[in-house]
Amino acid sequence: MNGPRVGPLILLLTLHLPAHEAAAQDASADVRARETEQRMTDDERFSLLYTLVPRASEKREGRVPADIPYSAAYGSGVPRLGVPALRLTDASLGVTNPGNARPGDTATALPASLALGATFNPALAREAGAMVGREARAKGFNVLLGGGMDLVRDPRNGRNFEYVSEDPLLCGVMAGEAVRGTQEQGVISTVKHFSLNANETNRNTLDAIIDPGAHRESDLLAFEMAIERGQPGSVMCSYNKVNGEYACGNGTLLDGVLKGAWDYKGWVMSDWGAVHDWSYALDGLDQESGAQFDRDMNGAEWFVGPLRTAYAEGKVPKQRIADMVRRILRSIYAVGLDKPGPAPVIDMAADNAVALEIARQGTVLLKNDGALPLASGARHIAVIGGQAQIGVLTGGGSSTVTPPGGFAAKIPIGVEFRTEDFLPSSPVAELRKLLPDAALSYDSGAFPADAAALARRSDLAIVFATRHENEAFDSPDLSLPFGQDAMIEAVASANPNTVVVLETGNPVAMPWGGRVKAILQAWFPGQAGGQAIAEILAGKVDPSGRLPVTFPADIAQTPRPDLPGFGTPPGSPVTARYDEGSEVGYRWFAAKDEKPLYPFGYGLTYTSFSYGALEVSGGDTVTASVTVTNTGTRAGADVPQLYLTEAAGDRVVRLLGFERVELRPGESRHVSMTADPRLLARFDPSGRWHIAGGRYRIAVGANADSPALVAETDLTPHFFGR
Ligand code: BGC
Repeated sequence: MNGPRVGPLILLLTLHLPAHEAAAQDASADVRARETEQRMTDDERFSLLYTLVPRASEKREGRVPADIPYSAAYGSGVPRLGVPALRLTDASLGVTNPGNARPGDTATALPASLALGATFNPALAREAGAMVGREARAKGFNVLLGGGMDLVRDPRNGRNFEYVSEDPLLCGVMAGEAVRGTQEQGVISTVKHFSLNANETNRNTLDAIIDPGAHRESDLLAFEMAIERGQPGSVMCSYNKVNGEYACGNGTLLDGVLKGAWDYKGWVMSDWGAVHDWSYALDGLDQESGAQFDRDMNGAEWFVGPLRTAYAEGKVPKQRIADMVRRILRSIYAVGLDKPGPAPVIDMAADNAVALEIARQGTVLLKNDGALPLASGARHIAVIGGQAQIGVLTGGGSSTVTPPGGFAAKIPIGVEFRTEDFLPSSPVAELRKLLPDAALSYDSGAFPADAAALARRSDLAIVFATRHENEAFDSPDLSLPFGQDAMIEAVASANPNTVVVLETGNPVAMPWGGRVKAILQAWFPGQAGGQAIAEILAGKVDPSGRLPVTFPADIAQTPRPDLPGFGTPPGSPVTARYDEGSEVGYRWFAAKDEKPLYPFGYGLTYTSFSYGALEVSGGDTVTASVTVTNTGTRAGADVPQLYLTEAAGDRVVRLLGFERVELRPGESRHVSMTADPRLLARFDPSGRWHIAGGRYRIAVGANADSPALVAETDLTPHFFGR
């Protein structure tokens, strides 16, 4: 695999321990956790089982030390035994500073995780995780609430921008590498939200229904792979129910799958406000987060008062309390929180380079009828909409990062705490730098007629279209808000030489798609997003992102055309039936023979690639090799993808492998990929993975919809794993 193009940054990584040393560190973490726990008093044990949001009231009450700055949570340590306090911060897209509660404390704001997914570059994911880990440690945090990785099942889910992909392999690899990068900096990372937090509408009362085997093959497989790769110190359980049981009190998932089948050794922390009973401790929950948010009818915090009472009454075995404590301690020791060393010195320019590189590699060119890259020379260019004169859009909720210098703008859009936040990386300013001879004029796009008039007298129009997404909300449909679809139509009718740049946290419908010359999917592109967009438009950088999610042509093609719970008052019970099971995204489209607008894995470049010499072998799993050649005239990156397309006579489509390769014109690379056998298997009701024997059809292609080369091989029937 090719490394990220971030040059010397990679030197800042702490070297990963060799396998034998890592194993020894883990074994010693187990021993130390047991020994420390055995020396604790019950008061000390219970003090570890919850964390508190460090508000002024908690400080006044003496529950949180006065000098602890505000963040997502604080958990007391046991100084007598050298157990450090836990200082938790949100960090999916960078270290957050909610409500500017730590005045002026800014951090590097990364692009949406979907953009990271679109890079198909695990080394860059690791670098991003390391960058956030370093910044967190420099600010005194030691637990990152990172690793957002629910599978994208619904293109209206308001939190998809915090997630990686619809595909378990891509999601598991990228999230796992990000966690690994963070923890190599001596900071614990979570993976979250376990599991099936795939819609935000009434997320606290939503019951996610899924076939348990299909769950193992989809969202749970993604978590399983990420946990194997990244060894996260903690797993955060989600708000929703899964098959009738709240995720944080779901013994089947927590004790059965996570700690049972997978033998996960870290601790399970709840999402903030996701605990509804002390008895969740008996179902596998180890720590209550932000305990003030979860209370019984007498106002007592579940894992503070009621759990202690239940223990005193003999309802909770002492061993279970010891296990909860040891799991927390084990992760503290395994990641090295007790020996933090000097705080790293932060190089904000180097960290900006990571954000920039993700935006460069994660921006996806969807359409190009010759308009891009922009021709050089003195020309009149109309830039329209999207607040492109000030910056780029970012997503809303607990993941929002305050960038260096603060936001370019915060525009309230209705619901009290919902604002459109713009990061100060102006595409207009960046385009001006790269196209000094062109005359650029900006129009807000507020009035389609004004925008069209400007487009008419320009040689070219670049329209920036945005759609805000926010935690706790879903979008009702796939449209662009605030009349932008009509505005784009008006501009495209006035000037056929129109390019659209989408800053969205989800796929959107493109009713104007046939009338514009080029479409660039920039997601929420992070604090260097304006620069990356301008570089790609101007041709300084070759676009190389590939879609980590399917773009539907119509919501009717997706498994749930009606949004679960749409329009119901907050707190209404909602049932979301994920009957597509593991046929998520491109798999669903293949099973239903539906043509998407743009398929999973798709993305254009300014050069071209060809595949040859496919060789496939079978047995217990599939190994394939293929030669990729850059057949164009520019350097560029390709992502050859290996797919299963038929399994023992059944049409089954699965991504089996991928590799990002950077090639000069005329250059070839031989790429070899071996499939994780779970991707070829079904999760059998007997509780094991099962590969049915027979012929398997394998394809290599540039996306899920167009196999370039196809071969067949035989797999041996067998059961494995659990
Ligand atoms: C979110 C989590 C986040 C937590 C702490 C919750 O509302 O779902 O992702 O880590 O808040 O801020």
